[in-house]
Amino acid sequence: MSLTFRSPGMAGSRTAAAEDAGNYAAGRPLPVRLLKLLSHVLPGERLKTAFYLGCIDLPRRMVRDALFAFYRFDHVYAALRQFGAEYTGGASILEFGTSDGYAFAKLLYATRYLGLESRIAVHTFDSFEGMPPPADEKDREWIAGDDWVAGEFKGRYEALQDYCRKRGYRNAHVHRGRFDQSIDAAVLASLEQHPPILIWVDCDYYSSTRTVFERLIDRIPNGCILYFDEFDNLNYGSRLTGEARMVHEINHGLFGENTELVLDPRLSLHSRRIYRFVRVPPNRMLTLRRGENTSTRVRWRGDGSPLP
Ligand SMILES: C[S@@+](CC[C@H](N)C(=O)[O-])C[C@H]1O[C@@H](n2cnc3c(N)ncnc32)[C@H](O)[C@@H]1O
Repeated sequence: MSLTFRSPGMAGSRTAAAEDAGNYAAGRPLPVRLLKLLSHVLPGERLKTAFYLGCIDLPRRMVRDALFAFYRFDHVYAALRQFGAEYTGGASILEFGTSDGYAFAKLLYATRYLGLESRIAVHTFDSFEGMPPPADEKDREWIAGDDWVAGEFKGRYEALQDYCRKRGYRNAHVHRGRFDQSIDAAVLASLEQHPPILIWVDCDYYSSTRTVFERLIDRIPNGCILYFDEFDNLNYGSRLTGEARMVHEINHGLFGENTELVLDPRLSLHSRRIYRFVRVPPNRMLTLRRGENTSTRVRWRGDGSPLP
């Protein structure tokens, strides 16, 4: 209607429409306007597309990945450094699912590199028979049916023991057997002196993960880091299956309403793999070197600017 009013006739309508289109283009963000300009300069759809993929999409993804892609060992050093700096006494790292010891070797070396070998015991648990068959529909991959195959990831127990001996890792403990048997009374008792500060779950199945938590739940101190290696991978991290299912069940009261796994976004980055254990009250706590809180603590008022 307003087109006819401003400029009667077909020619007038076209002018107004062109004006509107011009306004719309001008309202777009600067990068989009620059791309539009480039699109006018580059000949042909094929060249335009190749330019976009090679010069825009690829570098953008590389920068994003460099900043936010999750790497499995960053948080190990962060956790150990925090423990070394803030807490006293002994502690342990527990890994469930050893296979050939790829991660175990790196966990052990982290304790050596940071001078914590004498304080931190590193335990790893595996049947050394490879993946068992799925025990539950929540163990299975439901996107294309690409399930783990029985025997997959079978590791070499004796060779791993040799590796630890040769490198003189006196804090290494390799436990062979199904979790329901290998997480035994002796292991649980050892956690009194060495409470877990990092539990590394890499047994892939919901059913195996559930066994781990059923055995350990009363021995996990508050603040302990729980790392789920397969969280985002199985069925896109659906709460219906795998390790993600375990987190969902715990957070919906499986072990009581007072127990929660809290996502740690600083350590997890863009993944949902790392949680902190919290149970109130009462639960085991770690011992601080020096507490932050005193009755004389106060932040004195400064000026009103946002600068500290
Ligand atoms: C993906 S692999 C572990 C990979 C390993 N963390 C690494 O760094 O290479 C999973 C392992 O979990 C073990 N596993 C799964 N369920 C188990 C159970 N219920 N008891 C013992 N071992 C189990 C399998 O034997 C397999 O070696």
